Parts: sequence; structure tokens; C-alpha cells
Amino acid sequence: MTVQQTIRTQLPHVTTPPSPAPILELGMAFWGSKALLSAVELGVFTVLGQGPRTGRDLEAALGLAPRATFDFLDTLVSLGMLARDGAGEAARYGNTEATALYLDRNSPGYVGGILEMANARLYRFWGDLTEALKTGRPQNEIKHSGRPMFDELYADPARLEQFMAAMEGISRGNFIAFAERFDFSPYRTLVDIGGANGLLSSIVAAHHPHITARSCDLPVVRPIAERRIAARGLADRVTAEVVDFLTDELPQADVITMGMILHDWDLAHKKMLIAKAYRALPEGGALVAIENIIDDDRRRNVFGLLMSLNMLIEFGDAFDFTGADYAAWCREAGFRHVEVIPLGGPASAAVAYK
Ligand SMILES: C[S@@+](CC[C@H](N)C(=O)[O-])C[C@H]1O[C@@H](n2cnc3c(N)ncnc32)[C@H](O)[C@@H]1O
Repeated sequence: MTVQQTIRTQLPHVTTPPSPAPILELGMAFWGSKALLSAVELGVFTVLGQGPRTGRDLEAALGLAPRATFDFLDTLVSLGMLARDGAGEAARYGNTEATALYLDRNSPGYVGGILEMANARLYRFWGDLTEALKTGRPQNEIKHSGRPMFDELYADPARLEQFMAAMEGISRGNFIAFAERFDFSPYRTLVDIGGANGLLSSIVAAHHPHITARSCDLPVVRPIAERRIAARGLADRVTAEVVDFLTDELPQADVITMGMILHDWDLAHKKMLIAKAYRALPEGGALVAIENIIDDDRRRNVFGLLMSLNMLIEFGDAFDFTGADYAAWCREAGFRHVEVIPLGGPASAAVAYK
């Protein structure tokens, strides 16, 4: 008996039962996800950046055992992550337009840092989601140490660099869209709080020559930001500074940005950061939260909702939020007007004007 026939027998009131395929596809979606993450880890797209290769060539270049070479590569073809010309042993595999741009480590558009971190850290930590849901406790490196998340994460220099690359991968497109869509003409100065390697400050300064920007983060992050800002040739208008937003007041500026900062914290800390930004802005100044802002109805922004579960895994009490949530917190702090600017994809810039 087919699944459909069984359902018809057991649930006679259901005349045309829905297909179980979407349920099964979603349930097994981690197979495809892990195939992509392993491909990034192995450097498949970077090797193919030098030109198309046969399966056996790739097998040798990547150090694969022969058993699964074609299963692996053809899976990536079927997922739209590789192109293939021909069939069988003679077939040649190559990057698609998108994987050449975004997943070849030698491409300036590389966004694989977030996938490298997902592979090295999040994939395993998400295996304990059920425990997180039952306890409300984080499931990452701090699960047993109990140390503050960034102290633990940054204790290992390689993990610090990996996190910076991950942030660059997930945020670059959002920051470019923000620099293009937000009206910077009334403003001169920008302070980016939790600015990581200075990417937001650099992108805004590059798009708007009248803007001077300060990227503020923890002491261990500053040398990385200084290096990246100098490499982008923007050191005359972008500086990297140490500001601990938990203990320090925020530097004054016309625009204060926070890229994926508020979602790292519980409600009391979110409100504390918004209040600090209000104090540091002039009349007419703007606080901009660039986040995967969840739609007010909490139905459509799948990535934003999953990101909030990721904050459970990473921090426990941290969470993502809707535009309406943000507007309420900002009005409570004294801001007079809030707008949400979609940035394409799941992210938005939520702007509060003083
Ligand atoms: C999720 S990352 C976001 C990075 C970047 N804004 C983006 O959107 O890609 C959070 C950032 O907050 C920084 N951070 C964490 N605690 C901080 C603190 N107490 N003071 C300043 N920065 C902090 C981290 O170092 C990290 O760069």
C-alpha cells in the first residue's frame, strides 16, 4: 500500500491528501546542507576557480576516497552548486556563476566564511537543539565552561579570525545594500558599534566620500580591523577603536550602526544599548540596527526566525526580533520615528530617528 493509500484508509475524511514530500525533504535537508559545507571545507570551489576538472582530477586534488567522488560531485550538481559538462568519468565539473563569485576563496566576493564557521561549529551545536529547547541553555563552547560567549570564542586566535570571516560572509551584501539605500546626505559622522573587522564603516565610507567612520569593538578585534581598513585603502577616513559597549558610553556621531549586535543579548541589554545610542546621538541623528528583522506577523522570515534559534544555541537568553519590537523599544528610549528598510533577502536596516 502506498503512503497515499494508507492515509486514505486511516483518514477517510481527507479526500486528496497532501504529498508528504515537502515534510520529508525538509526533514532530510541537513544532507544537502552538509554536502555544501563539506565542499566549502574541502575547497572544491576554490580548486575549480582554476578551471573545470574531471571527477578523478578533483578526487586527487581534494584527497577524496574513490567510493563517493561522483555521488558527492553529482549531488552538488543536482543542488545547483556545480555545473557539469558531459557524463561519467569524462565529465568536467566547474563552478556556476554564483559559486565562482561567492565560494572561491580567491574571489573578492567570497562569502564562505559563514559556511566555514557553520561547518566547524554550528552544525554540531545544532545537534543539541532539543536540549536547548528544553533547558533554554546555550549548546556551544560555553555549554560546559559557563564563560561569557565572546571571551570563550576569542580565547583561540584561529577561532577569532574564523568568526571575523564568518561575519564578513554573512554581512557584506547587507552592508552594501545599506550604503546604497540609506540617505547619508544629512550626515557626516558614523560610529559602528561591534564593528568587527571594520567592514560596515569601510563600505559606507567607500560609497559616501563625505562620511568619516569609527569602527568600535573589543581590544582583540582592533588589530584585525586596522589591518583590513588599511588593506582597503580607507585609513584616512575610517579608524578602528576600542569601545566596550557594556561598560563604556558610546562615542558621539550623527549615525550609530549596530550590525547583528542587539540580537546577541537579552531584553535588558538590548534596551541598555538603545538608551546608550540615544544619549550619543544629536537631534535628528539615527540609530540603525542591521539584522535579520523578523516580519511583524512572525510567519515569513524563516532565516530570521532560525537565526533567533541560533541565538538560543549560542547565548541562551539572546533573541532576534520584529520591526515592531524594535520600534517599541526605541520609542520607549525617546526616539521619535522608526522605519524598516529591506536590504534584500532576510535582512533589513531598522532605523530609529532621534
Ligand atoms: C555578531 S558580531 C557582529 C559583527 C558585525 N557588526 C556584523 O554585523 O557583521 C558581534 C560583534 O560584537 C562584538 N562585541 C561583543 N561584545 C562586545 C563588547 N562588550 N563591546 C564591544 N564589542 C563587542 C564582537 O566582537 C563582534 O564583533
